[in-house]
Amino acid sequence: MTDQIPVIAVDGPSGSGKGVVASYLSTQYEYHLLDSGALYRLVGLAARRQGLVLENRPDQEALGDIAQHLDVTFAPTNDPENPLAMTLNGERVESEVRTDEAGVDASLVAAVPSVRDGLFELQQSFRQSPGLVADGRDMGTVIFPEADVKIFLTASAEARAERRYNQLKHKDIGVSLHDLFQSIHARDERDRTREVSPLRPADDAFVIDSTDMDIEEVLNQVQAIVTERLG
Ligand code: C5P
Repeated sequence: MTDQIPVIAVDGPSGSGKGVVASYLSTQYEYHLLDSGALYRLVGLAARRQGLVLENRPDQEALGDIAQHLDVTFAPTNDPENPLAMTLNGERVESEVRTDEAGVDASLVAAVPSVRDGLFELQQSFRQSPGLVADGRDMGTVIFPEADVKIFLTASAEARAERRYNQLKHKDIGVSLHDLFQSIHARDERDRTREVSPLRPADDAFVIDSTDMDIEEVLNQVQAIVTERLG
């Protein structure tokens, strides 16, 4: 019975640290990991490859069809920089999927109801023994409303832009802090104000604001919450 398999939902905006938290918890408990953002990113990539326009009234039927028939695989790696290997139609695509442009495309397709419907069952199918850590925007509200533990991680847009900037500046990608802030702010607005499954904490979520915390403090708080709930 899958409804007896424990689920830890980790939701929040981009750059809040939820990816690190989710991957830490899945290692700690040896649970499966669902990176639901990657699924939206893959739908965006598949759509671009088919030549679909994602801005301004995208073709809902074609996007829904892509989501419903997404041919993807995920496999954990031992590389902390790139913890999840993924394929789309048999081809390795994680370097394309992890760009900020792919994040913007993901948030465009994520506002389309047929895409969210098309990915619903696929996301639920990740709930396998011994347990699941589900990372996203609506894990605790829509996909796993009965999750055993719900964490909602947040941080100011300024702090999140700065974290992203610090990650990228070592990689020699010419990007400014101001542009990153604008892009994060625009993505937040789209995710929070869309009609379907908007980004918001579940009523029974533990909300952690990591603006003035380092990742170790965040992990300690999360660990305390999860231990109390799951042992
Ligand atoms: O988490 P990540 O940055 O990879 O997510 C990319 C985008 O996918 C988000 O900005 C959001 O628009 C969308 N998303 C979503 N629901 C989820 C996960 C991601 O709408 N559960």
